[in-house]
Amino acid sequence: MSRLVTISNRVALPSQLQAAQGGLAVGLRAALEESGGIWYGWDGGVDERITGPRAPRVQTHNSVRYATLRLSRTEYDRYYLGFANRVLWPLFHYRMSFVHCRNPLLEGYWEVNRLFAEHLPSLLDGDEIIWVHDYHFIPCGELLREQGVTAPIGFFLHTPFPPWDIIRALPDHSRFLRALCRYDLIGFQTTIDRDNFLDCLRHLDPQPTPLPRAEVFPIGIDVDQVANAARRGFNSQQGRRLEQSLRDRRLIIGVDRLDYSKGLRNRFEAYESLLEQHSEHRSDIVFLQIAPVSRGDVPEYEEIRQHLEYMAGHINGRFAEYDWVPLRYLNRGFHRTNVLGFLARSHVGLVTPMRDGMNLVAKEFVAAQNPENPGALVLSLHAGAAQELDSALLVNPYNVDDVVDGLHRALTMPLAERHERWQAMMASLRRNDIHRWRTDFVDALHDAHRARVAGAL
Ligand code: G6P
Repeated sequence: MSRLVTISNRVALPSQLQAAQGGLAVGLRAALEESGGIWYGWDGGVDERITGPRAPRVQTHNSVRYATLRLSRTEYDRYYLGFANRVLWPLFHYRMSFVHCRNPLLEGYWEVNRLFAEHLPSLLDGDEIIWVHDYHFIPCGELLREQGVTAPIGFFLHTPFPPWDIIRALPDHSRFLRALCRYDLIGFQTTIDRDNFLDCLRHLDPQPTPLPRAEVFPIGIDVDQVANAARRGFNSQQGRRLEQSLRDRRLIIGVDRLDYSKGLRNRFEAYESLLEQHSEHRSDIVFLQIAPVSRGDVPEYEEIRQHLEYMAGHINGRFAEYDWVPLRYLNRGFHRTNVLGFLARSHVGLVTPMRDGMNLVAKEFVAAQNPENPGALVLSLHAGAAQELDSALLVNPYNVDDVVDGLHRALTMPLAERHERWQAMMASLRRNDIHRWRTDFVDALHDAHRARVAGAL
């Protein structure tokens, strides 16, 4: 069997196994630990002294080899902070007003992609399949081909893929679209994203021929692993401390990186309106929002942070009693087991991104619930997860009152209904779990590569 090589900007190194992470790291770790292989990417560090080529640092843990490169300050500023997170991220999340591009950012992005592509061949022994992940590394496949790599190479986009009218605001967009076409297989989270991509190709002149193979592979979770970890977290010292602090109040929970795509402003506004309109819930509920700071050096992230601090202070100032604080807003991450334990203890999961590729927290909330007395999930229509979890209370976060209604319904939902919805969601999680995501993608990549090689003969 060929060895799997995954390439992603963020690598969850063994030393960071318990730390809180975005969906990509969580999903990839689960997929790689099962199959073994190489995980190649950025080590998360910046070294002021680096100027040119550098050797990957390699370490092995369980059956995974972690190979990482460090970035120079300029590379970090241009490629990661600049082009990846101030151009591609907002654009792919339909937030054009947040896009800010200058030519050196675009150049820095291609340079770092070239750097990673140039160093990969030294790690290969000839019998691998290569799986590139996410918006940081769109041109990596094309650049690997230029390095003479003949292995199957696939790409999976963890974020949404927006329609043509948004994509054409991307500088050099046809170069990006054509780079994607060089992969043997391109995977998307939902049919909406895949169809947007295929539609963009129709606008290219000349059109790529043959059209690339583009398919939908919704990323899942390891359902039993999450359920077991949630049980441990629930019974842990931290889980019990949370329980004691609640004193029979019901818990609403949100867990998100502090990112404008996550809909936190509208969520806070909805919670304030809930307390205002449904005074019966006051003193009976607590909303715990965990939001570790993310990409803190990007100005738009600093702005949202300040705004949320203001809103949290305002809500607590307006409604708190001497023995009750309605909103607990925490700008820090927790160990994964603890977070899963907190999810297990919650009556309502509040997942209301304005746009999200998938959102694994929604899936983890469901898997963490007590089957005898499951909580209710309030989920944004604009999260990829809504395509599968259609038994959640689906809300439109652009209409704050819709979120208020969803919250109220979740808080008043009878056990029988919660149970029925939870079972339907669990069935869907089990159908499309993380193992299936990996095997479906890898099998389709082998197929696509075989077909391409046969077509070229
Ligand atoms: C999202 C992206 C990932 C990214 C993660 C965390 O899930 O799709 O590619 O790794 O956010 O963001 P960061 O910038 O900290 O890697």
